[in-house]
Amino acid sequence: MQHVVSQTREGERTSTDSAGTPDQKAPDHKTISNPLLFLKRWVANPLQMGSIVPSSASLCERIVRQTHWSASEYVLELGAGTGVVSRALLAAGLPADRLIVCEIVPEMAKHLAQSLRGARVIEGDARDLPRVLPANIQGNIGTVICGIPLVLLPVAEQARFIDSIEAVAPGRGFLHFTYCVTSPLPWKKHGLVAKREEWTPLNFPPASVWRYTPAR
Ligand SMILES: C[S@@+](CC[C@H](N)C(=O)[O-])C[C@H]1O[C@@H](n2cnc3c(N)ncnc32)[C@H](O)[C@@H]1O
Repeated sequence: MQHVVSQTREGERTSTDSAGTPDQKAPDHKTISNPLLFLKRWVANPLQMGSIVPSSASLCERIVRQTHWSASEYVLELGAGTGVVSRALLAAGLPADRLIVCEIVPEMAKHLAQSLRGARVIEGDARDLPRVLPANIQGNIGTVICGIPLVLLPVAEQARFIDSIEAVAPGRGFLHFTYCVTSPLPWKKHGLVAKREEWTPLNFPPASVWRYTPAR
């Protein structure tokens, strides 16, 4: 069952400081990363998490520089975890109301909603984007970032994520970060074109950012 945990709306309550002015200060990488929550979720479901620690600042920086959006477009992040990539996008200038994050674990979605003021946090399943994403966002997405560990899934299951992304961001493809040395997806089987855009040793484990686009 999907629900929007938080979203920007006129009149919505925002946190205020002691002077009563809105608190716009975004948490830094370390504050938002919440490694204990991450570790707890990894112990509970290692396949769903795919990593024992959140992405490093170096990896987030590389994801951000491959992320594009125009003034009218949204950025959609799938599997936002504790929000380190989201936070890096906001720090790079993405307006909060243009950031949509989708996270399946309720406890993490709650953490994201508390940390990412103004962003829309959707607690839901990325395999079900046509249903969980509001209609005005569908077809209006500059970049999709997928942090879900697709490499651990059978091909048919990977296809469910890829089809779901294609349904809401037709022709755009997606960025996907991974610890694999080679492509984490059998791109030809999925009818995709693949390009490794980035690599960093400053992550545990060292990681790459791949771009997959529909082969047309
Ligand atoms: C490797 S973690 C990445 C977290 C964060 N983006 C980062 O870079 O630190 C993968 C995340 O994907 C989430 N996830 C797994 N399956 C999902 C699904 N079907 N829909 C939405 N999120 C999912 C997990 O709960 C987890 O938070």
